[in-house]
Amino acid sequence: MRIRLFTPNDIPAIATIVREALRENYPTSLYLDIHRWWREGFLVADRDGHPVGFLAAVINADGHARILMFAVSAPFRRQGIGRLVMDAFVQACGLRGIRRIELEVRVSNDEAIRFYKRYGFELAGMLPKFYTDGEDGYKMVRHL
Ligand SMILES: CC(C)(COP(=O)(O)OP(=O)(O)OC[C@H]1O[C@@H](n2cnc3c(N)ncnc32)[C@H](O)[C@@H]1OP(=O)(O)O)[C@@H](O)C(=O)NCCC(=O)NCCS
Repeated sequence: MRIRLFTPNDIPAIATIVREALRENYPTSLYLDIHRWWREGFLVADRDGHPVGFLAAVINADGHARILMFAVSAPFRRQGIGRLVMDAFVQACGLRGIRRIELEVRVSNDEAIRFYKRYGFELAGMLPKFYTDGEDGYKMVRHL
């Protein structure tokens, strides 16, 4: 397992993970935009040349990191890959002098909420009807 920077060649594999794990369908241009905004904030977990997980983040206007997408392909979960990706991301934030990481998560997503709490994120507010299907979200924050 290798954690490396995203390259545009990864888009088909990552779009598949996004469809299955996040139930979203984004245009290719979104991945290219995120990559252009902050290359070191777009990380891929690569197993034998195949992406099995990824994290994509941007830097807000106020200098905080915001995680936009984070997922590991279902057959590869609970093997520590999410932790490896998150650790590499926190390191990238440190190199960039970032002091705060934010994200949003569905209130029903117990597995992800548990993961984030274990890695030092705290609930920082409720986001009513944050998702397009009407579900509420939680904002979560980790100070570095
Ligand atoms: C959240 C997510 C990325 C975590 O990825 P992951 O690779 O499963 O994460 P890890 O394996 O590092 O840790 C997950 C759990 O497995 C446990 N685990 C890790 N290695 C393990 C092992 N060898 N055996 C058993 N359990 C193990 C960890 O303790 C952790 O438990 P916890 O959540 O209760 O703390 C993954 O669940 C996912 O893709 N979810 C769907 C997409 C999603 O919801 N993304 C977040 C949207 S905001």
